[in-house]
Amino acid sequence: MIAVKIGLCGLGTVGSGTFNVLKRNAAEINARAGADISVATVGARRDNPHCDLSGVQVTRDVFEVAADPHVDIVVELIGGTTTAKELVETAIKNGKHVVTANKALIAEFGNELAQLAEEHKVVVAYEAAVAGGIPIIRALSEGLAANKIEWLAGIINGTGNFILTEMRDKGREFEDVLQEAQALGYAEADPTFDVEGIDAAHKLVILASLAFGMPLKFDSIYTEGISKIETVDVAYAAELGYQIKHLGIARQSEVGAIELRVHPTLIPATRLIANVDGVSNAVVVKGDAVGATLYYGPGAGSEPTASAVISDIVSIAQMISLQAKAAQPLLGRAFDTLVDRSILDIEEIETAYYLRLLVDDKPGVLSQITQILSDSSISIEALIQKQPVDGQAQVPVILLTNKVFEKNMNRAITDIEALPMVSEKIIRIRVERLD
Ligand code: HSE
Repeated sequence: MIAVKIGLCGLGTVGSGTFNVLKRNAAEINARAGADISVATVGARRDNPHCDLSGVQVTRDVFEVAADPHVDIVVELIGGTTTAKELVETAIKNGKHVVTANKALIAEFGNELAQLAEEHKVVVAYEAAVAGGIPIIRALSEGLAANKIEWLAGIINGTGNFILTEMRDKGREFEDVLQEAQALGYAEADPTFDVEGIDAAHKLVILASLAFGMPLKFDSIYTEGISKIETVDVAYAAELGYQIKHLGIARQSEVGAIELRVHPTLIPATRLIANVDGVSNAVVVKGDAVGATLYYGPGAGSEPTASAVISDIVSIAQMISLQAKAAQPLLGRAFDTLVDRSILDIEEIETAYYLRLLVDDKPGVLSQITQILSDSSISIEALIQKQPVDGQAQVPVILLTNKVFEKNMNRAITDIEALPMVSEKIIRIRVERLD
């Protein structure tokens, strides 16, 4: 069997998982790859007590790995977009194939890396960058290759889903669950990436590029995180038959523009994806030929992510062993065949809404609110008004609306918030039926 040598950069959560699974499952992995895969060198700032590095060359300088003439595939698992970018560029220029789990790097710099990789005829693979262990990149680029993709929607941040699930089921505090997610190795080095939706945005632009054959457009995505979700909204949503999930949504509109948005969303509790809990991820992809398909599994963690990293290593090793060293385009098709697409402004997007208002408990209040909604052509699908808690003059009102353009909803909310009998800002969460 042909030997394929790995240069593994980074020995943190994903790096150590990759090292250990490669070793533990070597026989199966090599049989599938048709090649003898081994880690020739490890580049890491420090050793990891969970990895037995005996017999493996170790360097503290990852650039030595990218320059090592024995290395066929550089596996970048150091994260970030500074050293990691330079490392990947150096590896490509040195004619190495690259495997990375780095969604920020692909989302923000994938366009230039795609062109560089094509120029140097090497593969850059990133199955682990989106949805952890779920093979969603391969599903989009190969499994669904027959389809025009109409839309996709996914829970693509494991940390955020873990936090929402623990808050809902155990009434735990946000900060407390976040700390547990960090201890379990789920969260990003900067956890605001998880809770403010940036990590999900990185992943969504990658999925959208593969789905719609367009360059990566990280700067055009609308992003909202879960940090403002309150336990009371989770409970009211449940009363109305919905779950609140943090979704990334990409949809092709009738005029060909693309919706690209990440935000908390109410989903009917009967949908399979509404029941995806904990650190799990799930992506629904609707293709014109196949219909709706669902991909589900662990979205973060050491060995689940390593599983995806190794699937890329195997795929490249298969290619090397077949001596088909043709370049495989980073975004699924040759870069110059990608078609630029305009991204719809969030104001032009149409969704239904969940609204929670705190209003004075007086006659006529509801009629003024419904009048403002009706003036903006917004109709109400469901309404809950709670009894006032003893001693309080205000009551919560919860509304579900029909689909409405965001700009109309913004106007209606401004007008309602200006009413003297409405206190506090209105809580609004978009609703998607996903049917
Ligand atoms: N912080 C990420 C998450 C890790 O929680 O989903 C996997 O990409």
